[in-house]
Amino acid sequence: MRRQLCIWMVRLTFSSLRLLTVVDRRGESEESGDDETRRRSINGDVDPNQPATTSKSSHCTDVDLVHCRIGKIEGLEVLQKAKTLSLRQNLIKKIENLDSLSSLRELDLYDNQIRKLENLHNLTELEQLDVSFNILRKVEGLEQLTQLKKLFLLHNKISSIANLENLIGLEMLELGSNRIRVIENLDTLASLQSLFLGTNKITQLQNLEGLHNLTVLSIQSNRITKIEGLQNLVNLRELYLSHNGIEVIEGLENNKKLTTLDIAANRVKKIENINHLTELQEFWMNDNQIDNWSDLDELKNAKSLETVYLERNPLQKDPQYRRKIMLALPSVRQIDATFIRF
Ligand SMILES: *[C@@H]1O[C@H](CO)[C@@H](O)[C@H](O)[C@H]1NC(C)=O
Ligand SMILES: *[C@@H]1O[C@H](CO)[C@@H](O)[C@H](O)[C@H]1NC(C)=O
Ligand SMILES: *[C@@H]1O[C@H](CO)[C@@H](O)[C@H](O)[C@H]1NC(C)=O
Repeated sequence: MRRQLCIWMVRLTFSSLRLLTVVDRRGESEESGDDETRRRSINGDVDPNQPATTSKSSHCTDVDLVHCRIGKIEGLEVLQKAKTLSLRQNLIKKIENLDSLSSLRELDLYDNQIRKLENLHNLTELEQLDVSFNILRKVEGLEQLTQLKKLFLLHNKISSIANLENLIGLEMLELGSNRIRVIENLDTLASLQSLFLGTNKITQLQNLEGLHNLTVLSIQSNRITKIEGLQNLVNLRELYLSHNGIEVIEGLENNKKLTTLDIAANRVKKIENINHLTELQEFWMNDNQIDNWSDLDELKNAKSLETVYLERNPLQKDPQYRRKIMLALPSVRQIDATFIRF
């Protein structure tokens, strides 16, 4: 009955919507039906009091209002027990009227028209917040969200990293496709495991010293010219630096746990200073200027190396290109996009 109420309430609130989907994921396991039964789509003309498929259905904990042309957040007060709320792909301009949803763990506002991070202070239980693909200019208004573990702000107009100090439990931060020029103000985020800063305007790898637990760092498509400032990141496993202006492979002395190293599409002439990376499994080096076969010796200690990308280097002009890689690196199973056939 609860779920019926939920559907009905939502229909009242957004009575102009053409299509509306409410998913109660907690109910799923109780139902034997196919997708149609679980995912109840109603359109504006259907009688909201039609019987629900199960009477055992629990609270409306997961609410999905994706792609509903919603212009304003309102009338959701009834969802006090909701744990996740998705308002992806709507036309929302302002974050508001969410104060009573204090049980919320996940809030998804991906692909709307939101200009400001605001009115979130009551959502203190929030663990995941996604406001990607909006028009935010600033990171702000998150001070109270100390339980936050994952924050996605991909593809906005954010020009600086700020106001994250309180989020000491943050494990994942996605700030790709913004206008960030400097890596800064991350010092207190000691729990951070993944940091995504691709497609910004960053010129220097810096201010990463405090991120001891970082395992994934992605700064693809920026303006980095030198690999530096990574000395403290001893737990780093994946480093993505493709599409920058790097000329020399260096500064990775302490990153001994690296399993993936991506330096594709830079200006590197020589593979060097990585023979201590014995855990390496993926080495992406395509679109550089490698021209000496002896360089592959640098990867000999990586006994688990599975994949190398070397296409569009001068080496590729050699008619024996694939064969020579196979001979030099016998553990490799994939060269460029193609698996090795035996
Ligand atoms: C916001 O949170 C405060 C403190 O937890 C609470 O007293 C207040 O009722 C909440 N606001 C709403 C609208 O629920
Ligand atoms: C870092 O990671 C370790 C192992 O996962 C964990 O025990 C520790 O609490 C983490 N440190 C912080 C500050 O989160
Ligand atoms: C290729 O590299 C090896 C080892 O670094 C060096 O001895 C050799 O001179 C290089 N060959 C060319 C053509 O540069």
